[in-house]
Amino acid sequence: MTAPALQTTRRCPYAPPDEHTRIRDTESGISQVTLPSGQVAWALGRLEHIRAVLTDPRFSSDRQHPNFPRLTREQPTSDLMRPSIIQLDPPEHGPARKAVVGEFTVRRMAALRPRVQQIVDDHIDTMLAGPRPADLVRALSLPVPSLVICEQLGVPYHDHEFFQSRSSALLSRAVTAEERRQAATELRDYLKNLILEKAADPADDLLGRQLAQGNDPEDVLSLAFLLLIAGHETTANMISLGVVTLLERPEELTALRDDPTRTPLAIEELLRVYTIAEFANSRVAVEDVEIGGVTIRAGDPVLALSNAANHDPSAFDDPEEIKLDRGARNHVAFGFGIHQCLGQNLARMELQIVFDTLFRRIPTLRLATPADRLPYKDDAFIYGIHEVPVTWEDPA
Ligand code: HEM
Repeated sequence: MTAPALQTTRRCPYAPPDEHTRIRDTESGISQVTLPSGQVAWALGRLEHIRAVLTDPRFSSDRQHPNFPRLTREQPTSDLMRPSIIQLDPPEHGPARKAVVGEFTVRRMAALRPRVQQIVDDHIDTMLAGPRPADLVRALSLPVPSLVICEQLGVPYHDHEFFQSRSSALLSRAVTAEERRQAATELRDYLKNLILEKAADPADDLLGRQLAQGNDPEDVLSLAFLLLIAGHETTANMISLGVVTLLERPEELTALRDDPTRTPLAIEELLRVYTIAEFANSRVAVEDVEIGGVTIRAGDPVLALSNAANHDPSAFDDPEEIKLDRGARNHVAFGFGIHQCLGQNLARMELQIVFDTLFRRIPTLRLATPADRLPYKDDAFIYGIHEVPVTWEDPA
């Protein structure tokens, strides 16, 4: 019997695809699925199993391994560059991560806070001065994280239309293999030129500092590519999903507005329920491993279904309910183990500033299209919303 096809669309924006829930709730919590590439992979839906896989060196992140799980029919574009940290296993992963982790510490993020606040305020000013309804995605969700990561890396923001379109093609399932490869090649060439210029005249920005530390420009290129993509689409989608969710819960939104110290808890809950990077935790087994009574053989592709795990009733009470003060930090929305998201402090800080500032400055903000009619991203690898029309009243 062939394994059923991997289901990738959600019936409800804040619940895992039904098939993932079913796999999680089977006796073993593990099942085989057929990926769009034709590969048969093990899919794991329980939080404890996913944590076990993501901390076990017998599972590799090497995307050039022929059996690494692929969610598209074509070969990956990872041959275009050297592997970046997200693709490295120990012992190479540790030093590569150490070379950049200092750029994302809580202290670094605190220093960046005033600039992020200014960027958010400027974009809200522009939105308020423009026509109503406005598309929140274009006005705020996308430009804020994009501008922040550009400034951090030292990538000229005036080229944002170029790299945003290439980045969204890379994350879309709705483009052809050729289009995806072309987008990756163009983005690589753009960053390669930028890094050549920086190598000749290093600036005091993340990429400049990597070069000044003596890191190989080819490695800096792979890092730049990863950070530019990981740094804006993800947070942008969480901003849009978070704003829609909060606008749909006026009482809870008022409580947050009155007491912004509650925002960090709300952000954790939003990260958990939406688990936007639900397919980011793929691995390939390099040795035989037994998990939940199932033997995963060396060479088997493995998908950690982190969205199902973040709704695992053995780990979270009433997992399908959004409880903004739940306080559960044991979710795996940022992954787990050595590859746990490097940008999580940045993402949390951006989300906090956007939510606090937006609802304080525009208390009458409301959706101009009902939430259930919004164009959710069922066609992308990272979940989100394509467009969020919003409107507001003139200040009294
Ligand atoms: C890794 C999610 C924002 C940079 C990851 C992983 C997940 C994730 C699930 C683990 C991948 C794996 O295990 O293979 C998210 C979500 C975000 C977000 C949900 C926003 C809400 C960011 C931002 C940046 C970033 C803003 C950078 C500025 C990275 C990097 C890695 C990573 C570099 C790889 C770390 C390593 O391999 O050691 N992210 N991410 N992410 N993320 Fe994020």
